[in-house]
Order: sequence, then structure tokens, then C-alpha cells
Amino acid sequence: MPADLVIVANRLPVDRVTQPDGTQGWRPSPGGLVTAIEPVMRANDGTWIGWPGGPSEDADAGDLDPFEADGLQLVPIGLTAEEIELFYEGFSNATIWPIYHDLVAKPEFHREWWDSYVKVNEKYAAKAASVAAEGATVWVHDYQLQLVPQMLRELRPDLRIGFYLHIPFPPAELFQQLPWRRQLLEGLLGADLVGFQLPGGAANFVRLVRQRVGHKTHRDLVYLPDGRTVRAAAFPISIDAAGFEALASDEAVVTRAAEIREALGSPRRIFLGIDRLDYTKGIYARLRAYAELIETGELDVEDAVFVQVAVPSREQVEQYRILRDEIDRLVGRINGDLGRIGRPAISYLHSSYPREEMAALYTAADVMVVTPYRDGMNLVAKEYVACRTGDDGALVLSEFAGAADELRQAWLVNPYDINGMKAALLEAYRADGKELTRRMKAMRRTIKKHDVAAWADAFMTELADVEHSTHAKSVRAVGRS
Ligand code: F6P
Repeated sequence: MPADLVIVANRLPVDRVTQPDGTQGWRPSPGGLVTAIEPVMRANDGTWIGWPGGPSEDADAGDLDPFEADGLQLVPIGLTAEEIELFYEGFSNATIWPIYHDLVAKPEFHREWWDSYVKVNEKYAAKAASVAAEGATVWVHDYQLQLVPQMLRELRPDLRIGFYLHIPFPPAELFQQLPWRRQLLEGLLGADLVGFQLPGGAANFVRLVRQRVGHKTHRDLVYLPDGRTVRAAAFPISIDAAGFEALASDEAVVTRAAEIREALGSPRRIFLGIDRLDYTKGIYARLRAYAELIETGELDVEDAVFVQVAVPSREQVEQYRILRDEIDRLVGRINGDLGRIGRPAISYLHSSYPREEMAALYTAADVMVVTPYRDGMNLVAKEYVACRTGDDGALVLSEFAGAADELRQAWLVNPYDINGMKAALLEAYRADGKELTRRMKAMRRTIKKHDVAAWADAFMTELADVEHSTHAKSVRAVGRS
């Protein structure tokens, strides 16, 4: 049945898995995007187009059968092994990802990766064009699909198209390294509304469009030669705050949190990091800062333990493999040098966990440590705050996470400054109850007000309000690239 709301994202909200008995099953797919969009989908009876994970054998694997999972209408797009390598691991995660994250790692530029990116974007656009009802709203997500808005507009000019970027949008100085910068900007301009995490990202985009494509702009508006107006604005994403709060109050979760504390030897304070194992997350630097505090005796392993959960991610991409080895070595060295029998300095878990276990970890942790070098938002920081129903617990947060714009009462740190991080970790460790409550109360107010429902609502309302009548500006058509 044609859909009035279509979500287009790289991944479906579920991953296909082969069960031990050989039958096909599904499990929730990783990442914050899924958690953020699912409630919007449910509320609007939408259809979700995306990749079910893993390779599809057929070269024309675009045509897997639609299905329903957990009440959601899902339309799978199959990717071949080659597309996974060139489009997903290559252009999306080894070209765009590092460029959009401040060049924390060196990006690679390969023309065959770009060709595959174009081809796969075409596949998503064609599928969206085929399932959207007349005049439907299509909401395209994230950096893997930046060409889809324009491709879709060409196929279906009747649609209202929104695009949301979940990761940072870089300043012109970095973006213009991309050999395909103009095509990417034009791809995004196919949307009526382009959403970013922060106002800085929206401003970077509008400036680049003016400089590189030559369109006329005014504040957050871009005037296209065909008479369309595109708006670029910030919509900071959030979480299901009430859902996390309820989970944290659940008896089973509270019991599990107590078990975790006991299993860790009932230390005075538990520090916690939970991240996808990604080089942008600053895991190495934070563990070093913590280890130095133990080394100098400012912290003692009898009193403090660091639990680091590293969720496996993009394991075929070289930079991610290198990072995994580095963290493995660092944790081994720290525990070898500084741990005692039954008291490792760091409890390291290379695994992903269901929401209940995450809530139990957040509940057990006294100091949450979130120190990315660059992060679009970081939902883990917000989830921690939502779970602190007793208005206690400390958040140590990188200034370079989008969440730092809202969570001003966290201990804000520069992850490149190890001494600064050590000082913040110690302060958070030593803070008294009154101080913790003051900070946490304020952050909880923010999170409750700006939850994921408010985020989706703001974006959808704005998209619905976009003027479809043409503007009467005379516009330059400059042939820059
Ligand atoms: O927010 C960035 C993002 O790439 C999302 O699109 C995705 O949900 C998450 O990180 C996990 O990444 P991947 O889909 O590459 O496993």
C-alpha cells in the first residue's frame, strides 16, 4: 500500500540474523538513529526503507520482499558484498565519516567508492519513489544518503522531502577537500528542509552552498534557480526520556544495577563509558586519563573502577580494526600494571547490550564519561541523565559533543587535554551530593522538555510548513565546483 510517510535510512530498525537452526530472524539494529526514529514511525503509521544488514547475493538485490516486524512496515534494500565494501565501508565510513568528524582519522578518496555511493543512493531513491503515496512526506536520514533528496525529487516532484543529518556538518575548510563536494551539496538541496544537529552545521551548509554552488542565500534559506526555496536549520536530536526513566525505575533494572555494583566489588565510585568502538569517541584518551589518576595515587582501584563498554562497529574498516587493537593493548597494559587480584582498574566489555542492561549500567554508574573528539549529538549522555531518577550521578562530557550545547551543567572537558580531563574526573568523583543534585536536576529538566518526540515534531511541523509556492528572487547560476 502506498505510504503517506516514508522514512529512508541506511539501515532498517532491525538486522537480519540467521538463527542456529538456519531460519531467518530479526534483532534491533545498532545506533542512535533507530532509537530516535522508531517512535515517529509508529505514531505516523509510516513505512521504513533501509538495509537489513549483511550481503544479499543477487546483484539486483534491491528487490527483497517488504515485511512487518513488531508492527512496523519495513521495505528492505539489499546490498551486495561489493556495495557494502565500496558504498558503506568505503565512501560512507572511510571518506565522509572522517571528513565530517574533524579529520580525526585520515579520509580516503577513491573514485570507485564514489561511483558505488551514487549507484546505491539511486537504489534508495527509486524504492522511495515506488512506495510513497501521491503528495507523501519522505524523510531521508544521514550521511550515507545525501544524494537521495535530489534523485527523489527528479523522480517524484509531488513529494515533500526532508533530510536530517545525524552527524556534524563540517566547516568549509574540511568539506571542500571532497572531490564530489558540489554533487553532495546539490543532492541535499533536493530536500525542502535540511536539518542539522546544531546551528553551526546549518550555517556551514548555507555558506558552502553560496560559495560552491553559487545560489543566493539569506540567513537559513537557499533560493534555487528553479524557484524552490530550501531551508537549513538545527533540530538537536534527543531520546525517549520518559521511556528511559521508566526503565530505570523498573524493579528488575534496579536489582540488576545492584548486582553490577556488587560484581564490581562494591567500589566507592563506578566510572562508566559506553560507546560504539569508534575513533571519534575518545575512548583511548579517557582511559589514559583515568589510568594516570590511579598511577599517581589520586584514585585507588579499591575505591574506583572504570567500566568501558565498547560496542563492536564497522569491523571491516581498517581504522576501526586498528582502534580495536589499540584499545585492547591499552586496557591490557593498564590492568597489568595497575590492577590487583579481583580488582582490575578497567572492566572492559566488547559487546552490545539490550536497553534494560544499559539502563542498569547507567543506574549503577556514579560518573558517566563521554569524551568524543567530535560527535553530532551523543545520545548516551542524554540516556544517562534520563536514568538518574534520584537526581544524582555526574556527567563528564566533551565540549565537542553536540549534547554539550544543552547539558551545560555537565563537567565539560576538552578531550585533547588529558590534564584537564583528569581534573574533571577527579572533581566529579569528589563532588558532594548537593553539587551533584544541583547539576543533575537542571540537566534532567532539559532532557524531559526536549525529548525525541519534541524533536520529531519540530522537524515534521517545519517540513509541513515549507512553502511550495515558488520564490520570485532572481538568482545567480554560477558554474563553480
Ligand atoms: O549516527 C551515525 C550512525 O552512522 C547512524 O546512521 C547509525 O545508526 C549508527 O551511527 C551506527 O552505525 P552503522 O550503521 O554504521 O553501524
